[in-house]
Amino acid sequence: MLGIPLIPISHLTLSSLFPVGTDVYLRPKGAKEAMLFLAADQIATEEALELLAVSKDIKLFISQTECQKFQKHLRDNFDLWFENDAVPAKNKAAMLSEVIRNVLSDEFTRNDTNSIVDATKQLGVHIARLATEKSLTGAELCQILHHDYGTFTHSGNVAFYCSLLAAELGYANEELAEIATGGLLHDLGKLDIDERVLNKPGKLDEFEFRIIKEHPLGGFRRLTKVNEATRIQLLMTYQHHERIDGKGYPVGIGGDEIHIASRICSVADVFEAMTSNRPYRGALSHKQTLEIMTESVTQAFDKEVFECWKTIVSSRLGN
Ligand SMILES: [Fe+2]
Repeated sequence: MLGIPLIPISHLTLSSLFPVGTDVYLRPKGAKEAMLFLAADQIATEEALELLAVSKDIKLFISQTECQKFQKHLRDNFDLWFENDAVPAKNKAAMLSEVIRNVLSDEFTRNDTNSIVDATKQLGVHIARLATEKSLTGAELCQILHHDYGTFTHSGNVAFYCSLLAAELGYANEELAEIATGGLLHDLGKLDIDERVLNKPGKLDEFEFRIIKEHPLGGFRRLTKVNEATRIQLLMTYQHHERIDGKGYPVGIGGDEIHIASRICSVADVFEAMTSNRPYRGALSHKQTLEIMTESVTQAFDKEVFECWKTIVSSRLGN
């Protein structure tokens, strides 16, 4: 297998019920080369999956050139898997995490807001269902989510975190789905920002920061032209950088003027950004992140929402 660039995949995206659609390679710890584990049309046995689940030393990979194919396969079969009670919740979450990346990547590249809202609506329903799934622990969810701070990964994780928070705060399932979709859409306005500014490593100058600050309004404007976008999603997109002390942007409203769903999104957004890897720094731990966020809680965040998030992190997501 030398010479073929490989990318890691989670063993949870394999199922004993369906083939994976691309060749899957396996590399035991210490081995230099990966070997073929499953051909594209083969189905993993229960025994093999159990072994993978307990062994931290065996890593699975697919060819980098087949990444799109792998994600498309998951996407095409996702509804079937999601409705199948024999598929454990953590496998569904792993598959959903891949599907979210694929859908957002495709849809954001196509850059059609109607189509983006349409595609994210169904994902929001799935995210909300998993967020309230008792058999899926927060620690499992954290292991499954990617933390590379790509826009698509970021939006997917924010959507999961918003759902966990909203569920804990007592929102019903329908609203959870709406909020989850709002999490997927919250940075929509970044589609209009030059990638050189968006991906600039290190500090932004004043002019660049002014451009970045336009993304809540840009996303809001896009969503106002779409019938399917809900009020909550419009507000989450427009207000997620507002601060409770009125020193945020784009408007500088504060306190209760900021919609509760936007206050939820703000906590999820900052937590996600700090706990993800950036080109210029590694991810901070949950504990470090909560400590830093606590320092500015009365200025930046809704205290009740933040306290609720702290409880979720310490009781379910871990340090
Ligand atoms: Fe943002």
